[in-house]
Amino acid sequence: MAPPKITVPELRARKTQGPKIAMVTAYDATMAKLLEAGGADVLLVGDSLGMVVQGLGNTLPVTLDEMCYHGRAVARAAQRAHVMADLPFMSYQASPERAVESAGKLLKEGGCESVKLEGGRDFAEHVRRITAASIPVMAHLGLTPQSVHAMGGFKVQGRGNEAAERMLEDARILEQAGAFALLLEGIPSELGARITQAVSIPTVGIGAGPGCDGQVLVCYDFLGMYPDLRPRFVKRFAELGQAVVDATRAYVSEVQSGTFPSEAHSFGPGPKAEPTGNQPVVAKAPPGYGPASGE
Ligand code: KIV
Repeated sequence: MAPPKITVPELRARKTQGPKIAMVTAYDATMAKLLEAGGADVLLVGDSLGMVVQGLGNTLPVTLDEMCYHGRAVARAAQRAHVMADLPFMSYQASPERAVESAGKLLKEGGCESVKLEGGRDFAEHVRRITAASIPVMAHLGLTPQSVHAMGGFKVQGRGNEAAERMLEDARILEQAGAFALLLEGIPSELGARITQAVSIPTVGIGAGPGCDGQVLVCYDFLGMYPDLRPRFVKRFAELGQAVVDATRAYVSEVQSGTFPSEAHSFGPGPKAEPTGNQPVVAKAPPGYGPASGE
């Protein structure tokens, strides 16, 4: 039987009841299954896929159709984890109406259960309208990668009194507008803690210090698979990039030397009595990865 889904009310309750929300990005079904087996609460189909999957320099070219494509793959695999998707650049900025349509598409065609959008008070009406359409929204404050050109690069935000007070006020406005959670990226940890205490909805941090109600990381970053950028807030919990290189070297070497494939990885003629003739390529179901914690 499939484990119960993590719902938006459950994520909200984590603020007071714990445990902290453990969120990771996912872009395909195989990785989604692995991350869920590891116990991730939320799988974010982030527009960071533009950088880590598509090899772009920033997230701006990612389209809504691409987000739906990756969303479907992740949603197909996720049994317990909540699936959230980013509204990509220019799929919501132009108007609240556009925002509702795009958010609706991420649920209808992308298989997601909530959406995330970047921006402060200027997007309060967008959040209000999306929420009114019964679509849960997380608002993303601080270092908002879709504003890379306006910020002059990927830079820490909310430094100094004025900027901090403004972000605190943005957080309150977005909570009032109906956001069910806030993502805080690239801000001083003291401000992360202040915002967390100032709102009644959960905050999920990435480079926002330990005072948030949860944490998110890009899966390619914490698994050590994305060498192009290594921000200070990334902790590598594995070196899978190096493991892939080493395994590929071993494979290439065995293919070139003729060691692989051996008889152990080849098919025999099959039992003579086999009425249908052909053997299945996979004899039995592959092993799983064990239950996620909380099941
Ligand atoms: O797109 C993304 O992966 C994100 C994370 C950086 C939180 O928004």
